[in-house]
Amino acid sequence: MKILMVCLGNICRSPLADGLLRHKVNREGIRATVDSAGTANYHVGGPPDERMTETAMRNGIDISNLRARQFKVTDYDEFDLIYVMDKSNYHNVTRLARNEEDVQKVKLILDELGHSNSIQEVPDPYYGGQAGFNHVFDLLNRATDVIIENIQHDR
Ligand code: 4NP
Repeated sequence: MKILMVCLGNICRSPLADGLLRHKVNREGIRATVDSAGTANYHVGGPPDERMTETAMRNGIDISNLRARQFKVTDYDEFDLIYVMDKSNYHNVTRLARNEEDVQKVKLILDELGHSNSIQEVPDPYYGGQAGFNHVFDLLNRATDVIIENIQHDR
């Protein structure tokens, strides 16, 4: 199983989703590859936003070693599942799809929380305060729990 997390900058939301899922995959002894990327190239080569790194660290997740990279079309060959954080990411990623099989790999990550969940998109915390980072942590912590449950049921 190879899973890619995608947001806009690859410095806030997708590095956290990546770190959370890596942590849980290791904890559960699941063999999976987890990575993340951004649709934009603004932050390529840079570390995650300090506010996200610190929020993650306070919750026992170390994302400090991750470095931003840009999503590329060959990621469709490399990964089985591509989780995007919001609809804008969805459009930017599926615009590069070469066929229907590629499109089918792309999912909004909060869809994993089911239809009772009222929020479909992980809000971009970049221009906001600490509360936004905590909210992103809570949403992605829950979504990655469901992803782990799904992997364990499918095995
Ligand atoms: P991310 O947040 O997509 O969650 O990494 C952002 C980070 C940087 C920018 C936008 C969103 N930016 O415009 O630089």
